[in-house]
Amino acid sequence: MTTNGSDTNKHFYNPFKYTFNYSNPFKYTLNNKLQREKASAVIDEFEEHLKSISGKCLDIGCGPGDITKDMILPALDPNAVVIGTDVSKNMIDYANKKYSIPKKLEYDVLDAQTKNLPTKYLSEFDFIFSFNTLHWCNDIKQTFENIYRMLQPNGTMLILFVASHKIFKVLEKLANDARFTQHITDLNKYMWPFQKSVNPRKELKELLETVGFTVNHCSHRESFHFDENPDRFFSSIASFLDFIEDMPYDKKEEFKKEFVDKYAKTQIICKQNDQNTVLEVYRVLMVFAQKRMP
Ligand SMILES: C[S@@+](CC[C@H](N)C(=O)[O-])C[C@H]1O[C@@H](n2cnc3c(N)ncnc32)[C@H](O)[C@@H]1O
Repeated sequence: MTTNGSDTNKHFYNPFKYTFNYSNPFKYTLNNKLQREKASAVIDEFEEHLKSISGKCLDIGCGPGDITKDMILPALDPNAVVIGTDVSKNMIDYANKKYSIPKKLEYDVLDAQTKNLPTKYLSEFDFIFSFNTLHWCNDIKQTFENIYRMLQPNGTMLILFVASHKIFKVLEKLANDARFTQHITDLNKYMWPFQKSVNPRKELKELLETVGFTVNHCSHRESFHFDENPDRFFSSIASFLDFIEDMPYDKKEEFKKEFVDKYAKTQIICKQNDQNTVLEVYRVLMVFAQKRMP
């Protein structure tokens, strides 16, 4: 195993050979091995509890809908019904076409951090899931307040999201690089809610208790992922940086190369079956909590 930092890394990946974007649901499903692995592990951990859930459930940030159908639905009692929601209409249109099941599973557009929660969702759900999504919600307090309001009394949520990731250290470096400063105007937009937190577990637990949850489980965990396709991995990692699209072509190429080079140096590369593989390490927050009645 070699820790990155050596120039040899440059020889096996080709920045942005692949594109990977939330706006392309089909491409997303071809590249979501990591998300599937992580969702599956959480569902396994709470298997005993989930199989008794027979009411109405919500999946927040369902993306293309495959995890909602392939993993969440089968983990529940056969009488359960599920609505998958996502802020992206593209994702929801795709999910409805590909994965919906009449009277059992449907998908709807919903912004988890909206200040205008649709009344049809108020106190509607026995159980709310959200995997690999809430780090995108800068207004994390509003998001958990919304979840609280959507749950029925004593309803439960099971949530997994990214707490911190090395990608932001790279981004901060590049934002201070004279070549790119003018293009990265709002770094905060790309900071996840607990990225800079000293004690994310404690902070999250306190927030949830303030909102009105009884927290049965809240953990801050190291998570890791092997990706045997470094080309795809390194290109996908920058796909959410939308300011890149506004850069002039040459600047864009320079930024992408610099970003991928710097990011690759923070990762661990190992050889598996004679193939270069990336070992990505990051931290997640996981919560299992119940709506407490006022
Ligand atoms: C990494 S995908 C997760 C998809 C799926 N849950 C999974 O585990 O693979 C993150 C999803 O969150 C959605 N998302 C981002 N911000 C959101 C928001 N404010 N409300 C709802 N969904 C959001 C994105 O559109 C994207 O589909």
